[in-house]
Amino acid sequence: MSTIKVKVNGRIVDAEVNGNLRLLDFVRDKLNLTATKEGCAVGECGACTVIMDGEPVCSCLVLAAQCDGSEITTLEGLAEDKQMQDLQEAFVEQGGVQCGFCTPGVLMSTKALLNKNPHPTDEVLKDALEGNICRCTGYQPIINSIKAVLAK
Ligand code: FES
Ligand code: FES
Repeated sequence: MSTIKVKVNGRIVDAEVNGNLRLLDFVRDKLNLTATKEGCAVGECGACTVIMDGEPVCSCLVLAAQCDGSEITTLEGLAEDKQMQDLQEAFVEQGGVQCGFCTPGVLMSTKALLNKNPHPTDEVLKDALEGNICRCTGYQPIINSIKAVLAK
């Protein structure tokens, strides 16, 4: 066991964690933040993406113990974020969300990019989302959804 102090969605959390506990399980099971999804569990699908110290990470590949001193944002932490609200509406309107399983991870990768680069080119946007697999949309509706928000 190790003791960690992390800031999750703006709240300081002190916790005792097992050395093998993944960040994914920490947010879902210990903090009840279930927007973050588990798909492949091996870093391939991006469904588990959260923002850690400003960077999108696959939370299935990060141990909770590695997060000591870090700042973690999950989709729940952006519920009041206007741009995230706009993105969610655009995904619904443009068909960027279908089954929805990939959507939290896609949104977190998108937000991590837009925080650093508010006006990405299509290529930069596609590069930022290359780690997020979607079985439903064919990807173009996702790009269209994001571009609709950027065009506002
Ligand atoms: S569940 Fe983490 S990348 Fe697929
Ligand atoms: S909307 Fe179903 S996997 Fe992307």
